[in-house]
Amino acid sequence: MANTITAIIVGAGHRALLYASYALQHPDRLKIVGVADPDPIRRQKTAQLHGFGQEMCFESAQALAQHPKLADAIINGTMDTQHVETAIPLLERGYDMLLEKPFAVNEAEMWKLQKTAKETGRKVMICHVLRYAPFYVAIKERLLSGEIGDIINIQATEHVSYHHLAVSFVRGKWGNEEKCGAPMLLAKCCHDMDLLMWLKSGIQPHLISSFGSDFQFDPAKKPAGAGKRCMVDCKIEEQCLYSAKKHYIDHPDRWAFYVWDCLEHLEHPTIEDKIRSLQTNNIHGRCVWDCEHTVVDHQSTMIQFEDFSTATLNMIGGTAKPERNIHIIGTKGEIKGVFDDSIFTVRKIDTTSESGWSEEVVDLAIGGDKSGVTGSHGGGDLRLVEDFVQVLQGEQPSISCTNINDSINGHLAVFCAEKARKGGTLFTMPRLG
Ligand SMILES: NC(=O)c1ccc[n+]([C@@H]2O[C@H](COP(=O)([O-])OP(=O)(O)OC[C@H]3O[C@@H](n4cnc5c(N)ncnc54)[C@H](O)[C@@H]3O)[C@@H](O)[C@H]2O)c1
Repeated sequence: MANTITAIIVGAGHRALLYASYALQHPDRLKIVGVADPDPIRRQKTAQLHGFGQEMCFESAQALAQHPKLADAIINGTMDTQHVETAIPLLERGYDMLLEKPFAVNEAEMWKLQKTAKETGRKVMICHVLRYAPFYVAIKERLLSGEIGDIINIQATEHVSYHHLAVSFVRGKWGNEEKCGAPMLLAKCCHDMDLLMWLKSGIQPHLISSFGSDFQFDPAKKPAGAGKRCMVDCKIEEQCLYSAKKHYIDHPDRWAFYVWDCLEHLEHPTIEDKIRSLQTNNIHGRCVWDCEHTVVDHQSTMIQFEDFSTATLNMIGGTAKPERNIHIIGTKGEIKGVFDDSIFTVRKIDTTSESGWSEEVVDLAIGGDKSGVTGSHGGGDLRLVEDFVQVLQGEQPSISCTNINDSINGHLAVFCAEKARKGGTLFTMPRLG
């Protein structure tokens, strides 16, 4: 029987604890034996949940790295700008690592981390959870089988719902690029960019262009009568689609791990505690036009690969329903599907049929798989942890495996797209008339 892998959580936030829940379901495969986090409440809760003592609680990644190696691996769920600074000393200490995306926020630190991984010989897997979602795995298998031939073009679309956009990319942690270090394309769409690279099976992207802007939340567009806090001084709260009351009091469980993390010190916060926090110091109580919002809310990116195939990635924030669409067109057929519905169609050129094509609809019927036992991201979260554990146990990695070298292309494509968006060379159409 394979040995149990031991791991220490570094950054005991929402993501790392979600990955660590795999250990509670499969204690024979993964055991969490320690935590490093500056927050004493999070350290204590993690130690209680996983059953280890104070001696295995550390105040930071850097403090943990002062000790000799205490486990096989690290689950690194720190925030974006801390990934490289927390990862390097621990890789040098000899730990393998499951590292959250984006694993670096700029090119220089990306190469620095890759160099350390290479020099130390440690395994670093990046949390590109969508590669593990059964929907994308099934599509990847179809591509590998050669059914639709060589890929000519991929069209990927990501619709970020209005409530997700507001909680994460307007009011929340990723709304201001200067503070969080990550533009929207990196924070939200590095998964989608990674998927494009993975589906193209390692063929290098060559040319990239990108456009995007803050169409909706520019402070200049603040409606008359809007205040600073929805539940304090706003005259249009009742009509506003982005009212904090409507988002977080009428739906108190939606995005609870972001909205109520400032109340973590309370055992069972009441609705009155929540209202008071939105009225006072909770960042999610702010007017969406008064959040120092600097990231885009929509962005279109176009890529040409070295084999002259092309891809587009359209991210649009503020939609009614969250949805990822993919359409892959090959020389023999095409695959078209909606991730959130878990359904895709494989359509092939069929010279014998009257219509000219044949069609197969694949319904993975994994609706219930999107949360709970296999975590979120269409079932990808905990499948990723399972693969990480298996790789550490010496087994063959799955086709989804996200070692750091595989993840470079996607991140690099994002950095180039951002350079293009912020000031690349463009041709301006001459005005008519
Ligand atoms: N894979 C995905 O689909 C996905 C989805 C959402 C977020 N993320 C990424 O996951 C990461 C974590 O997000 P989160 O919302 O869980 O964050 P979080 O803020 O809840 O947790 C981060 C934790 O790191 C701790 N920390 C700070 N400095 C530290 C240090 N020096 N050493 C150890 N710990 C330290 C903080 O105290 C905090 O508890 C981010 O990079 C985010 O972009 C990934």
